[in-house]
Amino acid sequence: MKIPAVKGTRDLYPDLLAPIRRIFDVWRAVSIRHGFEEFEGPTLEYLDLYREKSGDELVGQLYRLTDSGGRELALRPEMTPTLARMVAAQISSLPKPIKWFSIPTLFRGENVQRGRLREFYQWNVDVIGAADVVADAEVILVGVEALREMGLREADFAVHISNRRMIAAMLQAAGIAPERLSGAYALMDKSGKLEAAEFDRRWDAAYGAHLPSARLRALLASTDLNGLEREMRRIAGGSKHADAAAELEAAVAETARLMAILSDFGITEYCKLDLRVVRGLAYYTGPVFEFYDRSEKERAICGGGRYDDLLGKLGKSREPAVGFGMGDVVLALLLEEKSLRGPARRTAGVYVIDADPAARPIVHRVVAALRRAGLCADFGYAAQPIGKQLKSADKKGARFAVILGIDPADAGRVRIRDMAGGHERDATLANLLEDPKKMIGIDT
Ligand code: HAM
Repeated sequence: MKIPAVKGTRDLYPDLLAPIRRIFDVWRAVSIRHGFEEFEGPTLEYLDLYREKSGDELVGQLYRLTDSGGRELALRPEMTPTLARMVAAQISSLPKPIKWFSIPTLFRGENVQRGRLREFYQWNVDVIGAADVVADAEVILVGVEALREMGLREADFAVHISNRRMIAAMLQAAGIAPERLSGAYALMDKSGKLEAAEFDRRWDAAYGAHLPSARLRALLASTDLNGLEREMRRIAGGSKHADAAAELEAAVAETARLMAILSDFGITEYCKLDLRVVRGLAYYTGPVFEFYDRSEKERAICGGGRYDDLLGKLGKSREPAVGFGMGDVVLALLLEEKSLRGPARRTAGVYVIDADPAARPIVHRVVAALRRAGLCADFGYAAQPIGKQLKSADKKGARFAVILGIDPADAGRVRIRDMAGGHERDATLANLLEDPKKMIGIDT
């Protein structure tokens, strides 16, 4: 019986894995360059961790299991609860701000579709212990720099920024009760997907008495902070809810400051205000953001925001926190579209060949020496005619072939062939073994 791979998982053959590993290399290098340290956590967690922290949508997608001891567990669908749990457990001994990153495998029982799988990788970048929005700006900077390093430019993607605090205050200033906010967020989250008339109908039925849909849509469509500020002031000014009005002022100022720091970091052209970004997860409390390709054809490349209450719920003290998750799947689609995915395989630098089967022992000796010198070197196991061995070198993508046993009268002579142009030159075995990189003229 043929058993297929589970739906929504991937069999990552080397040619499929190589471009993903290159994405990892950039994620890792950019994280480290920005002062983040790598951490890892368990793939299995107690189900309760997500029941309490992640929000209904994600809990509905959990892969659950009961182990032999009767414990209710889940495969991790996101890293943030694990990070919060780990940090909360050692909060007093960790120097702050804590700047950590991780590249976990995550599992979500989602509808499998373009950009959405059931098992995927997600780069997480988080700062814990910093209340200032400079931390929010820094994580956004890290995400932008990684995409830039992969070759994506301003014309390719944008960071859509909103602020849950601002939206909450705006809705409350308009008179919507706090306990009705999550329902309003859920509907706003759908605003891009619903027909305008349908959105208006649903919104007006539930919240129209406080904030008519036309007014809300004008706010959601606004991309300019000054215009938005004026509109928000109008809501706050006419509000009977003085606390909410003051909170709205503060939230608008916080958003303006975030935008100003992004400008200091030199990434303004990648960032835009977009109040349609509400984020599905329950724990966000302040600025939130999502990265999209400019055409907005694909799903979000990345999503994150501030979650100041999550650590307090898992440990003793409340700790401000902000971060994001960037999946590999949508990103790979975008890189592919822009022809930035790179070659399907890593090439062998040097392929070692014999022109005479009697030279096999020297092949073994040379290949080991090249590898020890730090070169990517390979060879065939079987004795074969030289033509076949050269074909193998070509198939492996080798830049050079080192050919041994070319002169039966002189075992110390080797030939170095440039595989691209076919140019050949001779050298001595002694010199090759002494300094392989120099003799071949290759670094890796
Ligand atoms: P999220 O919005 O659920 O946030 O996921 C963030 C990113 O992970 C998405 O934008 C997408 O690239 C990728 N992603 C999510 N689900 C899938 C899927 N089924 N298949 C492929 N890619 C997917 C979070 O997970 C938050 N924990 C991020 C965060 C970190 N917030 C603060 N720190």
